[in-house]
Amino acid sequence: MTYLHSIFQPKDMALTLAMDQVIRRRRTRKILGSLQTPAPIPHGFREQVEEAVRVAGWAPFHYPANRIHHQQGLDSCVPWRFYALDQNACLALAHCLLEKTPANISEGATIIRMLAAAGSVVLATWLPEPKTTELAMHMNEEHLAAAAAAVQNLLLASEARDIQSYWSSGGVLASSECFKLCGIPATQKLLGAVFMFPSPEDSSMEAVDGKLRNRRGPPDSWSTWITLDKQETNA
Ligand SMILES: Cc1cc2nc3c(=O)[nH]c(=O)nc-3n(C[C@H](O)[C@H](O)[C@H](O)COP(=O)(O)O)c2cc1C
Repeated sequence: MTYLHSIFQPKDMALTLAMDQVIRRRRTRKILGSLQTPAPIPHGFREQVEEAVRVAGWAPFHYPANRIHHQQGLDSCVPWRFYALDQNACLALAHCLLEKTPANISEGATIIRMLAAAGSVVLATWLPEPKTTELAMHMNEEHLAAAAAAVQNLLLASEARDIQSYWSSGGVLASSECFKLCGIPATQKLLGAVFMFPSPEDSSMEAVDGKLRNRRGPPDSWSTWITLDKQETNA
């Protein structure tokens, strides 16, 4: 319990502490495996991911997505879509990328090694407005913000389930080839490929942390209280 928790007791202390702990504990973990020996995935992992995806959907959103994005049975008005791959799909995608992409990816590439270690990858897209008006650009900013809130929810829900995660921009996973392979409409944009790794029973696989993890500085280097004096408020 922190000093602040002891002077201001929330209604549900256990919930507050658990929430704070999950937020602080979440960290980027890239686990690198090998296609020759895919990672052992614990029983029930897929169901855990399914649950994390479901709860992640409780993110806030401002504008409903344009109806052009109501496709392929995914007809929610939320401005994001999640496409989940289980281990078999991750491995199949890795093999397809090795065979089909013009980028000349090798088995030793980070993306292939992570697909070999992952229990699941969730490709999270956001849904841009079809027009390019000022209003549409503003809506796009808010669609993107809402989709990012859903992705952060997914990372936190994963952390709470002891699943290690990594939000990647996607690299080749954002390419039109990968979208075609996964059946993702070209009108959508990849916001992130969220890798989900089981917590390691043994640490034989290489793990890499986020480069900027310890560079963010203390809260008072990125947040401040605003005070307005009377003269300014009367102006
Ligand atoms: C939108 C977004 C895209 C990211 N893309 C990448 C990426 O492509 N490669 C990478 O190494 N890390 C990527 N990251 C993870 C960051 O590097 C990581 O969050 C940062 O180093 C802070 O570490 P932490 O997540 O452990 O706090 C991304 C994070 C976000 C929010």
